[in-house]
Amino acid sequence: MASTASGLGASQAGAPGGPPGRELPGRRAIRTFLDKMKVEFAVIGVVIVYMVLVFADLMLNEEDGIPWWNPVFQVVDLGFLIAFTLELLVRLYAYGLVYVKDALNMFDAIVVLVSLVLQIFFMLQPAGTTATSSFGFMRIVRLIRLVRLFTVMNKLQKARSAYKKAKYLRIGTPVEKVMELLGQMRETSETDEDGQDVAWIMDLIATDKLYTIDVRKNTSMSAEMSAFITANLGLKNEDPDDDTATDAGSTTTASSGGAPMLRQESSYLPAAAEELTRCQELVERPEVAELLKHIADWEFDPFAFVEATQGNGLVVAAYHLIDHYGLIDKMRLSRSRLASFLHQIQEGYRGENPYHNATHALDVLLNMNYFLTFDALGGLLKPVDRLACLLAAAVHDFEHPGLNNNFLAATKDPLAITYNDRSILESHHVAASFKLLLSDECNFTRQMGRDAYAELRATVIQLVLGTDMKYHFEHVTKFKTKLSSNAFKHAETDSAERAVQHDDVKFLLAVALHSADIANPAKPTAVCSKWTELVMEEFFLQGDKEASLGMPVSPFYDREKTNVAQCQMGFINVLVKPLYVEFTSILGDKGISECLRCLESNFDGWTEYQRRCTEDGATEPWTEFMATRAKELADERARLNRRPSLAASLSGRAGAQVHPQ
Ligand code: CMP
Ligand code: MG
Ligand code: ZN
Repeated sequence: MASTASGLGASQAGAPGGPPGRELPGRRAIRTFLDKMKVEFAVIGVVIVYMVLVFADLMLNEEDGIPWWNPVFQVVDLGFLIAFTLELLVRLYAYGLVYVKDALNMFDAIVVLVSLVLQIFFMLQPAGTTATSSFGFMRIVRLIRLVRLFTVMNKLQKARSAYKKAKYLRIGTPVEKVMELLGQMRETSETDEDGQDVAWIMDLIATDKLYTIDVRKNTSMSAEMSAFITANLGLKNEDPDDDTATDAGSTTTASSGGAPMLRQESSYLPAAAEELTRCQELVERPEVAELLKHIADWEFDPFAFVEATQGNGLVVAAYHLIDHYGLIDKMRLSRSRLASFLHQIQEGYRGENPYHNATHALDVLLNMNYFLTFDALGGLLKPVDRLACLLAAAVHDFEHPGLNNNFLAATKDPLAITYNDRSILESHHVAASFKLLLSDECNFTRQMGRDAYAELRATVIQLVLGTDMKYHFEHVTKFKTKLSSNAFKHAETDSAERAVQHDDVKFLLAVALHSADIANPAKPTAVCSKWTELVMEEFFLQGDKEASLGMPVSPFYDREKTNVAQCQMGFINVLVKPLYVEFTSILGDKGISECLRCLESNFDGWTEYQRRCTEDGATEPWTEFMATRAKELADERARLNRRPSLAASLSGRAGAQVHPQ
């Protein structure tokens, strides 16, 4: 018999879970059957029975002459050999020639086939002719067959360890199965190159580097941009030769100066009921009501809204949206406590920060809400998911100190110590928000069921932690992978409708919030330009602080040396555009064109400004250039009388030519 496959549970390409390829009919099913533990043991059992018979025959027969049972044994022997040959053929069909690449399998197959041929040959000899000599020869062949015991013992050993593994690793993760399958693929790969590829994949999985980006390998990126990404965005610099990563802040005791984590609520908070009245009055102001009609537009101007709401843009927009979607009633929220919570959140954003203030939180809330208006996203949400999205957006930078994670870690800030240098700010934003939520005056979730609260909390945490730029490349890569497997689409299968997995919905929402967070380069030029000025000023303030502390100034944080246009081009090209091309693809044509049109137009603006400075020797500040460009684009649009939605439907998919804004 052909012994078991080249490893128990062996599955080559095309096996269940393996890459799809062109398969002979039924091959996969046969392989699955043969790989079953029970089948493996049954086959080994039959081989052992056969071996016992052969062994007994050899031991019991007399030295000379043919024993009386020989004719019976010959028939039994032939029956076994035919069965083994059939098994060999089935295995060859199921696994292909790779099966006999294994030396033991090859040896086994030869012994079985030679034995079969000889057995038939001797049985066809007329009785009496060369009977004695042929019988002697047959005994030698049977002796060789005993050598097969060795191969069987080998298979048995494999079977036992596979069984043990299966028994004890039943609570294992899918990655163990993946590694097992890859290990078998590596063993049976037909060329060295294939084997090396599989080994490389196994190494990537084993070292947990599947979603790690090596920015040093990206030759199209400027050195400063790559330093910005590795240092400022919290990615590891894995270059062993790089010794520039110093513990610069270690001698300082600088603090982030952030607001204390716990507030003395009653000392400076108005009563919850009063807060609600104030919020409702603001919503009813005619200019606010007028702006609220356009709250779901991509071009909505958050700065104008903050002005119209007398600095209460975040409270008014968040309250309005939560109420508008009927979440207050559906989730049994306390209106006054919700107003009070939102007010305190807004207060917790530091007004002194040029960028990370309540207007940025409002902007992210509006962007997130815009994404949720698309059915591909909004259609997947339960009320608790939608509430989580709006809350996560509102609190996502709560109590931001205006300094980045890198700085907090380098200066041993108390927040860095509390959160062990991991997603320091993001952990603080979400933890401090929940502390506030649990205070009596702000706990608008008290009537909510325990399960709903747990779900709300888990989603808000996942979404806010997902805004750490450290996860950017991981998000983009995973998102692409999931897109290619249609993970975010309802599917009608033969048997039933497959709903999108809730984990995938939450991942999609995390990508949406991250996209909402870095949306400013994808906004109309005037708004984009204003955000750029603010974010760069906050970077420069940190740069000033770094210089005054004797620390190396972070890339793009030096107000004297930074080329803003280059920074923005890099930010768009390396981070925002790759994400937006993927993310907006699920929103459909309207979303794609509205977001990508502005993004590409702004990129062209920065490129043009850069060209003028280098080629024409222009000295105009970028702020003036962008202001003029914004006005020209607005005039052109007015002239063409082309509303954005019309432009959107014409501009086509990602990568399409830029249309005037
Ligand atoms: P945060 O809002 O916490 O998360 C996203 C980060 O991206 C943001 O902080 C900034 O550090 C960075 N960022 C946002 N907009 C820009 C921009 N226009 N140029 C450079 N960096 C930006
Ligand atoms: Mg943040
Ligand atoms: Zn943010």
